Amino acid sequence: MVMSQTELLHELEPVVAGELDRHLKVAKEWFPHEYIPWSEGRNYDGVFGGDAWQESDSTLPEAARVSLIVNLLTEDNLPSYHHEIATTFGRDGAWGTWVGRWTAEEGRHGVAIRDYLTVSRAVDPIALERARMVHMEGGFQTEYGTMLQQLAYVSFQELATRISHRNTGRASGDPTCERLLAKIAADENLHMLFYRNLLKAAFDLDPNQTMRAITDVVTTFQMPGSTIEGFTRKAMIIAHEGIYDLRLHLDDVLMPVLRQWAVFDKSDLDGDGAKARDELAAFLEKTDATAARFVERREERRARAAAMR
Ligand SMILES: [Fe+2]
Ligand SMILES: [Fe+2]
Repeated sequence: MVMSQTELLHELEPVVAGELDRHLKVAKEWFPHEYIPWSEGRNYDGVFGGDAWQESDSTLPEAARVSLIVNLLTEDNLPSYHHEIATTFGRDGAWGTWVGRWTAEEGRHGVAIRDYLTVSRAVDPIALERARMVHMEGGFQTEYGTMLQQLAYVSFQELATRISHRNTGRASGDPTCERLLAKIAADENLHMLFYRNLLKAAFDLDPNQTMRAITDVVTTFQMPGSTIEGFTRKAMIIAHEGIYDLRLHLDDVLMPVLRQWAVFDKSDLDGDGAKARDELAAFLEKTDATAARFVERREERRARAAAMR
């Protein structure tokens, strides 16, 4: 029997309450302002008559800069994400408490990254502001119509965001940037755990429908920032640098989560659920081949670039 969305929301409510308690126990309070090197900053042109930003102000490698912009614009779209999850999960009871808590935690990510970029002059603040306006005006709309699909999506997406923040920090070569992004990545990890545990509980309630939702999401997954202007080119730069690429997406995001759900060990799937799992297996195999080819080509490109130097 297929459970309705309303039944699932109701049945999962105690799980949400339990996960919320667990989350509040492990999430440590932290203060973004402590992570920003304020004394490195100076006034800009305009109101204060300081120095306009120039290219030579930035000491970060190009790929790290591109990735910081993508990550920040992604975080900036929080009002849209809040709208999407509040619409699906509701604003009552434990679900509503989680929606509020999650939104508040996410809210510090964009603030902290923007503070860092503005103080360190790592990127052009005018281009950044214009990109933010365009991106936020477009907003974000989920591709997925059901609660289970959205739960599957955020389970992967929170982990993808964690990996992306962490690797961006490393690629920056700046210990200050790395420390801040590691802190943000730790938040994203706790978000992933929350959603991943919730979907695991949904598996027990309605295995076939949950399996179908997972396959639908894995086979169509797009990063939440994919609507950023020039995303394709930016994503290529980020992938070339190894900050986030298909190999990482498969090995560090999709597979660890799927393993936690024990998708391939489930014995209670039949009908469309069994079919969905077969589709997932085929998709993962194909993705693995594509990822291997990508890594091979990247190594060739890097070897050619090294030989030219
Ligand atoms: Fe975030
Ligand atoms: Fe998050």
